[in-house]
Amino acid sequence: MHRFPLGAFAAAAALVLLLLPLASAATAAKATAKAPAAPPAPPNITALMSKGACKAFASLVSKSPDALSAFQSAVGGGVTAFCPTDDAVRGFMPSYRNLSADGKASLLLFHAVPVYYTLRGLKSSNGPMNTLATDGAASNYNLTVQNAGDQVTLRTPASDDPARVRSTVYDRDPVAIYAVDAVLEPVELFDPVADAPAPAPAPVADAPRASSSAKRTRHQRRRGADAPGPAADDATPADQRKDSRKNAAAPGAPCRSRWLAAVAVAVAAALAA
Ligand SMILES: *[C@@H]1O[C@H](CO)[C@@H](O)[C@H](O)[C@H]1NC(C)=O
Ligand SMILES: *[C@@H]1O[C@H](CO)[C@@H](O)[C@H](O)[C@H]1NC(C)=O
Ligand SMILES: *[C@@H]1O[C@H](CO)[C@@H](O)[C@H](O)[C@H]1NC(C)=O
Repeated sequence: MHRFPLGAFAAAAALVLLLLPLASAATAAKATAKAPAAPPAPPNITALMSKGACKAFASLVSKSPDALSAFQSAVGGGVTAFCPTDDAVRGFMPSYRNLSADGKASLLLFHAVPVYYTLRGLKSSNGPMNTLATDGAASNYNLTVQNAGDQVTLRTPASDDPARVRSTVYDRDPVAIYAVDAVLEPVELFDPVADAPAPAPAPVADAPRASSSAKRTRHQRRRGADAPGPAADDATPADQRKDSRKNAAAPGAPCRSRWLAAVAVAVAAALAA
């Protein structure tokens, strides 16, 4: 049997005592950074929409392989979907049928943002948001969230009438689904209205909505015209409750890790004292 020299043992013990506070500080920092426990199997987003007021929309998503796979893969990273009600989809079908397969997929993906928002989070967000259809600067596909009182509205420059959030279909982190009363028209697929509303989010009095067929006939399919979009004016990104793929992380991240480093140093100092 070996016998350790007493001196070596003492040195080793001292080293362990010295390193212990550092190790626990690192663990504490890691625990702060980790999200709560990973959720179980991802929910079936089209099935959830169907069960709510959005059977027709869910059916369109199921029939578009690109949209379906993008929706399902977005679920894990956090997603908020705005599904138009069956009535809204019915009125929009003539325009929808006119779109190419790519256009259809983009339109469907335009109805979700890659960030999980509670209704409360949504109500405290104003401004442009990227959608699942956003693909770099060439395919902006952004929509504008505007809150007026208790009403969440979604706007694009292609329509005078905002879509309004009507009800919560599903809300369990990381997936939220809200029913909206109109199909959202991206300017990438539909002409902006000539008389674009002023960018200022003036409190919206409940004006009667234009009949949707009258509204649709004004929109011709097109690509790549430049829109005098209100979104460009107040281009401050909306508050994002939670980091997610694509459009989050960037500005907040360095700040957050600096903060964590500061906490780690403070904890280490406290433990060592
Ligand atoms: C999701 O539910 C729909 C029925 O609404 C079903 O057709 C589809 O296969 C389901 N998808 C998955 C991945 O379970
Ligand atoms: C569909 O496209 C055709 C040809 O471009 C156009 O004449 C028609 O108005 C469009 N219909 C709708 C509902 O957008
Ligand atoms: C939103 O998209 C439009 C055109 O599609 C673009 O002009 C505008 O800069 C975009 N806004 C933001 C904040 O990305």
